Amino acid sequence: MTHITLAKGDITTQHVDAIVNAANSSLLGGGGVDGAIHRGGGPQILAECRALRASRYGKGLPTGRAVATTAGRLPARWVIHTVGPVWSASEDRSAALASCYRESLRAADELGARTVAFPAISTGIYGWPMDDGARIAVRTVRETETSVDEVRFVLFDDTAYRAFTEAIS
Ligand code: AR6
Repeated sequence: MTHITLAKGDITTQHVDAIVNAANSSLLGGGGVDGAIHRGGGPQILAECRALRASRYGKGLPTGRAVATTAGRLPARWVIHTVGPVWSASEDRSAALASCYRESLRAADELGARTVAFPAISTGIYGWPMDDGARIAVRTVRETETSVDEVRFVLFDDTAYRAFTEAIS
């Protein structure tokens, strides 16, 4: 059974097999978690992302999908890049957000990763309301069959930590 744990802080410092990046479809970097991962991990990650763009994902990684690279200088072994949906008040995109968690766990299983750290995907620059994002994250991980032993949600601030505490209770 997958054990869900919560931590407060910076996902790039986590000692886990894989950390998940809240990327964009270009895979070429950005702000938030994405910026922190590329800054901390160094140029190796970007080089692998460019290679993925040149081979499998010429048009970019679609929303809701996930793909792995190594983690450069980070303590984790791998980075699993996924693209969350931008929040919309007029359209329900929660299936795409759930897909990010499910597809990331599938990528983790393919790698043989047993401990995986997730950020609160889409809840920063992409504007998803934190409480709802936390509920979708926890529900999807609970519903997904995976060999991952520990899923650690790494929350950047008190609001996020409270939302996930509520969602797992
Ligand atoms: N560790 C853990 N959580 C963090 C960190 C960190 N180092 N930095 C931010 N957060 P975001 P998104 C929290 O914006 O909403 C990028 O430009 C943050 O407070 O990183 O999916 C990409 O390239 C928030 O709760 O990702 C895309 O263009 C959560 O992580 C776009 O942003 C996610 O915030 C993706 O936006």
